[in-house]
Amino acid sequence: MSARILDGKQLAAAARRRIREEVEDLKNTRGVVPGLAVLLVGDDPASHSYVRGKERAAAEVGIYSVVERLPADLPQRDLLEKIEAYNADPRIHGILVQLPLPDQISPEAVIAAIRPDKDVDGFHPWNVGQLYSGGEGFVPCTPAGILEMIRSTGEPVAGRHAVVVGRSGIVGRPVAQLLLQENATVTICHSRTRDLAAFTRQADILVAAAGRPGLITGEMVKPGAMVIDVGVNRVDGRLVGDVRFDEVREVAGWLTPVPGGVGPMTITMLLYNTLWSAKRTVNGT
Ligand code: GUN
Repeated sequence: MSARILDGKQLAAAARRRIREEVEDLKNTRGVVPGLAVLLVGDDPASHSYVRGKERAAAEVGIYSVVERLPADLPQRDLLEKIEAYNADPRIHGILVQLPLPDQISPEAVIAAIRPDKDVDGFHPWNVGQLYSGGEGFVPCTPAGILEMIRSTGEPVAGRHAVVVGRSGIVGRPVAQLLLQENATVTICHSRTRDLAAFTRQADILVAAAGRPGLITGEMVKPGAMVIDVGVNRVDGRLVGDVRFDEVREVAGWLTPVPGGVGPMTITMLLYNTLWSAKRTVNGT
């Protein structure tokens, strides 16, 4: 069997067309243009590349964006001041501070400084709390994008066994929570899990988010399973996932490629969150 490929680029393009229409509609009917502020500290090439992608995607759907590229030695208080200014700026509905940050800046302090109702990354403790208590809030972009991809297959999630490999606060834990809300039976595996393959082989839905290139082999996958590869690893200048694509393709029922899988959907969810935030200000909620 050869897996059906879950094409993130195609899905993202369709979703962005819908977002673009809604942005246009909000502008025409309410005179509001969704605004996104992106703050990037330092020279990390991968972060610069991600931020360029976000800037381009925002422009493509008509979202106003401001990108500040700041020096690596920026003191934390200067970054906090900038966040305060965007918190108070009515043109800005979403604030994103690109991670990782240089050592002199505490990511926790920075995330906590962002107004929860502008925290389009969904990283603020208030939004994290909303996610785990079943309330309304911003859902982190990568997990939200993964769920959209799973939904696009039309395969049921309820009652299925979802195995998530990785327990980060940005991907593993929130995606497990979203799958639980969809009534999957969820197992979270991590670097200390003994006999990882014994778990992954039981997965109807396998989400690989460990950040370890080629971790998931063909033998570790149940025939027909849906495999979502969240890995973004640079190996010899090439981008590779956590899943051995060529092997797993022969076993799985569905498979996301890297690049062109989860990545484009992550940026799309950032656009979606920014639009949603702008709509909420219009509706006064
Ligand atoms: N760095 C890598 N992924 C992300 C993300 O989703 N949001 C932010 N702010 N930084 C990141």
